[in-house]
Amino acid sequence: MIPRWLWFVALLLRIEVRGWNQLPRKTVRYSGVSEIRQSWHSGISHYLTMTLDENRGALYVGAREVIYMLDPNNIGKELRPPIVWEAPNERKIECVNKGRSNRTECFNYIRILQEFNDTHLFTCGTYAFQPKCAYIELSTFTLDSNNLEDGRGKCPYDPSTGHAGIVVDGALYSATLLNFLGTEPVIQRSVGQHNTLKTEYLATWLNGPNFVGSSHITESVGNELGDDDKIYFFFTERALEYDCYSEQVVSRVARVCKGDAGGARTLQRKWTSFLKARLVCSIPELQLHFNLLQAVYTLRTNHWRDTQFYAVFQALWGDVSVSAVCQYSIQDIQKVFDGSYKEYHEQAKKWGPYSDSVPSPRPGSCITDVHRRHGVTSSLELPDNTLNFAKTHPLMDDSVQPIHGRPLLVRKGVNFTTIAVHRTEGLQGELYDVLFIGTGNGWLNKAVRLGSSVHLIEELQMFDKPNPVHSLVLSRRMSFVFAGSPSGLVQLPFADCSKYRSCADCVLARDPFCAWNVNISRCVPSDEQYGDLLLQDVQASDTSICEVQYNKAVKPLSRNLTVAIGTNVVLPCELTSNLAQPVWTFNGRELSQEDNNSMLYDITLQALVILGVGVHHSGTYCCFSVEQGARFASERYQLGVVASPSLTLESRAPMDGLGLVWMMVIALGAVCLALFLAVLYLRRKLQDEMEKGSKSLENTLVYPIQLPSQPKMTKCLPSADSDEKLWDPSSFYYSDGSLKIVPGHALCQNSTGSSSPSGNGIPGQPLPSPPLHSPNHMLLSGVRGSSSNGYIRLTLGGGVGEERPPLGELNEELRWKLKQRQTLPDSNPEESSV
Ligand SMILES: *[C@@H]1O[C@H](CO)[C@@H](O)[C@H](O)[C@H]1NC(C)=O
Ligand SMILES: *[C@@H]1O[C@H](CO)[C@@H](O)[C@H](O)[C@H]1NC(C)=O
Ligand SMILES: *[C@@H]1O[C@H](CO)[C@@H](O)[C@H](O)[C@H]1NC(C)=O
Ligand SMILES: *[C@@H]1O[C@H](CO)[C@@H](O)[C@H](O)[C@H]1NC(C)=O
Ligand SMILES: *[C@@H]1O[C@H](CO)[C@@H](O)[C@H](O)[C@H]1NC(C)=O
Ligand SMILES: *[C@@H]1O[C@H](CO)[C@@H](O)[C@H](O)[C@H]1NC(C)=O
Repeated sequence: MIPRWLWFVALLLRIEVRGWNQLPRKTVRYSGVSEIRQSWHSGISHYLTMTLDENRGALYVGAREVIYMLDPNNIGKELRPPIVWEAPNERKIECVNKGRSNRTECFNYIRILQEFNDTHLFTCGTYAFQPKCAYIELSTFTLDSNNLEDGRGKCPYDPSTGHAGIVVDGALYSATLLNFLGTEPVIQRSVGQHNTLKTEYLATWLNGPNFVGSSHITESVGNELGDDDKIYFFFTERALEYDCYSEQVVSRVARVCKGDAGGARTLQRKWTSFLKARLVCSIPELQLHFNLLQAVYTLRTNHWRDTQFYAVFQALWGDVSVSAVCQYSIQDIQKVFDGSYKEYHEQAKKWGPYSDSVPSPRPGSCITDVHRRHGVTSSLELPDNTLNFAKTHPLMDDSVQPIHGRPLLVRKGVNFTTIAVHRTEGLQGELYDVLFIGTGNGWLNKAVRLGSSVHLIEELQMFDKPNPVHSLVLSRRMSFVFAGSPSGLVQLPFADCSKYRSCADCVLARDPFCAWNVNISRCVPSDEQYGDLLLQDVQASDTSICEVQYNKAVKPLSRNLTVAIGTNVVLPCELTSNLAQPVWTFNGRELSQEDNNSMLYDITLQALVILGVGVHHSGTYCCFSVEQGARFASERYQLGVVASPSLTLESRAPMDGLGLVWMMVIALGAVCLALFLAVLYLRRKLQDEMEKGSKSLENTLVYPIQLPSQPKMTKCLPSADSDEKLWDPSSFYYSDGSLKIVPGHALCQNSTGSSSPSGNGIPGQPLPSPPLHSPNHMLLSGVRGSSSNGYIRLTLGGGVGEERPPLGELNEELRWKLKQRQTLPDSNPEESSV
């Protein structure tokens, strides 16, 4: 038997090897988003509920005991004074007495906020665990709190539980938990003229569901069968039908007919049209299933038949979070609901398709022309055998498969929480679906669908706190995304084209909202009326279209720096994107990593590291960022190497008062050895599992070079573009006379310490290459970023931090690595190298 953890490692490796884990092309951190972001904080914004009314030009936001009316052009502006709708004190006391928290639960959290008719909004709140609903008069933006409706079955008691609700023709279709303890799930219709209908309280109907969404599809329009409109519900629940994994959680789609009136004797005041099916999102060839549905977005088109659903799923494999996006068509869902039913076979003691004759009219069907021809015009007239069958067979045998049979997108180390999709036109009039995906730590992923997969255009850090993005709303008219999280609300434009500085960058972005304007040499929103002046290639991102006339390669300034023999030099190189690879040239000749042991490109630092420079290292170093054959000149260094009088001092230095450093060096050496052994072990174990795995594992080398934490020692040597003599005594000594010797890491073959700032850091950590970081990352998480068996002296040269911030970021990274190291457990002194 393969141990379970090993199985997970193998899975993750396979995801990597087959290219399933996608990287966003660009990563834009919070500070980089600041120019385009507008935000709004209410101070008490947990569980935001948003409704955008494009016609009225208002964004309604329900928070804790308050409802706001914001200006969607600038969410910082409140159009009307907010409605305060508090649960009364006696309710709150009652709620606390029943054991709920007076700090987080016993409030009125607005969970439903929907347009009801032209003059009113309908809203429901948890009302300190006693849900209530009310109408909001739009012309005055007021709520009549003396006229509250019972909210049971419409709104959850507990603000943190999943629920769904949608107003259709004056009726509320809701999916929630019906009682205080949250044990009785229900999908019901209430409010308005229709009679109230509910689901049967049977485990075969709903079994511990978590509702995530609902959608109204107007299937009666132009329907040759005379079919009815339907309301679809999406949720996860514990499956009864898989005996071997009893209680396995699966994702579902369920539907009811709008015209359902319930049964006359059987299924009285219950749905006669409730059917459900499994919603599958998996990678079949890897047998990987994403079972935890998080959110669904309905992409509407001119005709309901072309309606598509985009859904985000999570899965946990081992301790690694993996998320996926799957796409479904309404027609595939219909086919499953028109197929065979599932039932429990008593003899075989397992679930299988129902194969006997099905009663007529077909159970679970809406009232169609076929029914009407047989004199059945309402569900009240359905015969008992049809209704009894419907009651006992709510589950379909087939599962709903995603379009293309596989996910559009898979990301590792990220939790997708919500999704919104906008269909837009490219420059040539082609249609593109742009996906906006919120994550569990406050980021937005933006992707464009290209056939059966997506291109991840970018990831943006919308919130400074790593809070989950709960809701996303799109303003099509104004091209804005609104994102809600517990820390507030953020408004972003669909695209910020100005961040693409060159034609090639603009084209490689593959952002349908952006195009390169050759006249003004700028990346601009593609909907501007410039016609022939715009270049865009979302499909192929062929940068050769740029070369026609404008390929203004901006030559980077040369940074001159001169160092003493034996110094270790780090030359940073900022890549244009996460998908780019660095190419370094030395005196015009391309450097390859195998070439030279004393030089290596460090992925984590994005820098060329030259250990112990010799005279032969002097010359010109250029870094190019290469993406799909397009080369961006990135950095240019002129390195001079001179013999240094301070060399003798240097070699003596470690003995002088650097005992602590030595201790660390020794400790790190031991850790490195341990890592090495662990990797050897792991590799032997995995040899069969991996296809190209073992080769890549050998290449997995990420060695951070570290600076000590004392601020004075991280001081950079100044002045760009000027000859700088680093052997000048003042460059080697600090004012207090101490030597500038910086402990760090030296090489340690065949193990890896690849890691990245976690927590509020980049989700899914875009490390461009090599592909196999994850196993060690995961298994050896206790000693992340710490593999080392020595130290090097480090000198950072050339004032790099002037216009662009690579050195600043480098320093940040270095400091972070150091902090990691300081928290390392002590190990036995082992060995070291200088
Ligand atoms: C909540 O209740 C505790 C005691 O049960 C009390 O000390 C605290 O002040 C209350 N907090 C609020 C916000 O009412
Ligand atoms: C909208 O619904 C409210 C609440 O039921 C009702 O009072 C109002 O008359 C309705 N308005 C219209 C235009 O139907
Ligand atoms: C994703 O969510 C799960 C469960 O909520 C959590 O345990 C995990 O740490 C999250 N992963 C990330 C990368 O945020
Ligand atoms: C090109 O840009 C210039 C100004 O930069 C403007 O005067 C000119 O009209 C533009 N040409 C076209 C065809 O738009
Ligand atoms: C590689 O290193 C050797 C010495 O180890 C040196 O002679 C050679 O010039 C180096 N190659 C490059 C491209 O720097
Ligand atoms: C850098 O050095 C080169 C020659 O070594 C010289 O031509 C160039 O002007 C220097 N650049 C600056 C900015 O000093």
